[in-house]
Amino acid sequence: MKVGFLQLRPKFGDVKENVKEAASILKNVSDATIVLPELFNTGYLFRTVDELSALAEPVATGYTVAEMKKIARKRKLNLIFGMAEKQNKKIYNSAVLVTSKGKVFSYQKTHLFDREKLFFQPGSNAFAVHTVDGCKIGIIICFDWIFPEITRILALKGAQIICHPANLVLPYGQDAMRTRSIENRVFTITANRIGAEKRGNVSLTFTGKSQVVNPKGDVLASASERSISLKIVEIDPNEANDKTITPNNDIFEDRKTSLYGALLSKTHAR
Ligand code: ACM
Repeated sequence: MKVGFLQLRPKFGDVKENVKEAASILKNVSDATIVLPELFNTGYLFRTVDELSALAEPVATGYTVAEMKKIARKRKLNLIFGMAEKQNKKIYNSAVLVTSKGKVFSYQKTHLFDREKLFFQPGSNAFAVHTVDGCKIGIIICFDWIFPEITRILALKGAQIICHPANLVLPYGQDAMRTRSIENRVFTITANRIGAEKRGNVSLTFTGKSQVVNPKGDVLASASERSISLKIVEIDPNEANDKTITPNNDIFEDRKTSLYGALLSKTHAR
């Protein structure tokens, strides 16, 4: 199957323009699963909850999902993209999967980064694996990468590809995602954004370098720090079913879960 990323430079607050730009790049692609960045339609640095609220949309009835569904159907694409989701008066930093057949799923970011905590509700939905065209897809969003538990849970639930819409700012997220691939023997697709935002006294520069990584940690495709970029590669998702590292090591079978239980619960020492 064909998978890839679309690395973008969103214009803050201009949802129609950002969706239009994605649509215009995707019009030359078909029959693929493509990941776009976190909050690709709005930009990232909100100044107030009111500003965010004006840009957030319900998944079921909002403009962005409706447009992305049209593109997905027309081009036979499965699209995974980040957007601010309004649901029951709460706002989540979400990633939405729309399939070429019109199905829609939303994942609400669990681990909020820095000032996101001032604006968004953390998600509390189960970590779901979606079967799309016979392939099993899990989703994490940006800073979720630093919590290896979530990728592990998705891999244990059978995910073959972890899709990772991102607005990475720390310099080591991409390297860490190679590790997430290796330690779980899964494909990972990180779609990061580029550019900088300065709003009020806060500014951030996003690190680009989107990538597709295979279960052995090889980078199959990558982008630069600076350019808008669409890259697509052919993969066999079934490669992720093999969890062996040596003839005597299977990373799932070898786990010592009876020893981990208490340590992976809420308590921790400082
Ligand atoms: C991030 O989670 N957007 C850094």
